[in-house]
Amino acid sequence: MPKKLVTKVEGLNGEIAIPGDKSISHRSIMFGSIADGKTVVTNFLLGEDCLSTIDCFKKMGVMIERQEEKVIIHGNGFEGLNEPSEILDVGNSGTTIRLLLGILAARPFHSVLIGDQSIGKRPMTRVTKPLQLFGAAINGRKNGEFTPLSIKGGNLKGIEYELPVASAQVKSSLLFAGLQASGTTTVIEPVKTRDHTERMIKQFGGEVEKTGTAIRIKGGQKLTGTSIHVPGDISSAAFFLVAGAIVPGSEIKLTNVGLNPTRTGIIDIMKEMGAKITIKQLTEDEFEPRGDIVIQSSALKGMTIAGEIIPKLIDEIPIIALLATQAEGVTVIKDAHELKVKETNRIDTVVAELTKLGATIEATEDGMIIYGKTELIGGTVSSHGDHRIGMMLSVAATLCKEDVYLENEEAIYVSYPTFFTHLQSLI
Ligand code: S3P
Repeated sequence: MPKKLVTKVEGLNGEIAIPGDKSISHRSIMFGSIADGKTVVTNFLLGEDCLSTIDCFKKMGVMIERQEEKVIIHGNGFEGLNEPSEILDVGNSGTTIRLLLGILAARPFHSVLIGDQSIGKRPMTRVTKPLQLFGAAINGRKNGEFTPLSIKGGNLKGIEYELPVASAQVKSSLLFAGLQASGTTTVIEPVKTRDHTERMIKQFGGEVEKTGTAIRIKGGQKLTGTSIHVPGDISSAAFFLVAGAIVPGSEIKLTNVGLNPTRTGIIDIMKEMGAKITIKQLTEDEFEPRGDIVIQSSALKGMTIAGEIIPKLIDEIPIIALLATQAEGVTVIKDAHELKVKETNRIDTVVAELTKLGATIEATEDGMIIYGKTELIGGTVSSHGDHRIGMMLSVAATLCKEDVYLENEEAIYVSYPTFFTHLQSLI
């Protein structure tokens, strides 16, 4: 049954404590599992993706306790991971499978990895190829491009590798392999991507060096359990930032939001488009900066979004497309080919679903062009099983003058289980 969404809203007002960051939550489980000793994680994201990560590490014998948003991991180093007797199922999570492959690449055992239908279509040779260069044995459907994958770890030798695509998942996977390889591993990025892995290596007592676009890591390092407070996910906050900007008469405060500069592209472009955003930085914290953000509705203008900023807002492009439908003039999004290999082909799903609601938007080879400002009407739309498409459409519905029904709303639980409760609290 499609979900009837809230429409014709006259202003969104209130305060929301944004749930934990998905990228950081995944990494906290992974590093906690390969470190020695106890790691305590607070404000962990209880979304399905992060629960898949916990499940995979439990299947390798790691003791992980959960008390609501607090997670305690009892790590025994890389050697503490055991050969799983069951298949490791990553569900919908690209981060889980790609980073896990880097960890498994040097483990002296066999494992099999699968995921859902969407994972089955996402490219994996971007990680399996460089991991094979390190010395890992990996097989999979279509020459290792797709799941199911099987991996037998080996003795790895550090490599120097230039990433063909800007991807934090690939970079992180290779850093996990590098931590276990002999010698030094160097990963060179074409464009800077989110640096949560590098920050977390340091938080767990390890060393990683950065010079320009090169990241260097020495193998054989010992990591030690620690405490991690996960900041709110800016990619989740993005839905309310845009909602607050486009629904007239709105003022929303978002608390404890992660403000890592490799993730804040959405704030930069919203300000340039005319959004009224005020930020109160809470910490300048070495680990992960965070702060409170207030957004008020305002008039907006279109712009071109391209180049080096793209990785800093790649997950926010669906909601930025909605923002652009409410901005005067044309918005062009370029250099975003990577959208095609996310949980869905997000160029196609964004264009198809926003068109159904009445937007004027066209797909291009590497992004989309949006003509604003358009009135949104209503209709039946689908998340296509993609959490970020589902949330974007739910925000779009608040502006629609006719009824809106959303198919496959359950996809939203992947990253934001309390999304609808939070949206309702602002009405
Ligand atoms: C992520 C990296 C990005 C992002 C994904 C999470 C991560 O993917 O889209 O949601 O946690 O490293 P890519 O590395 O494929 O760009």
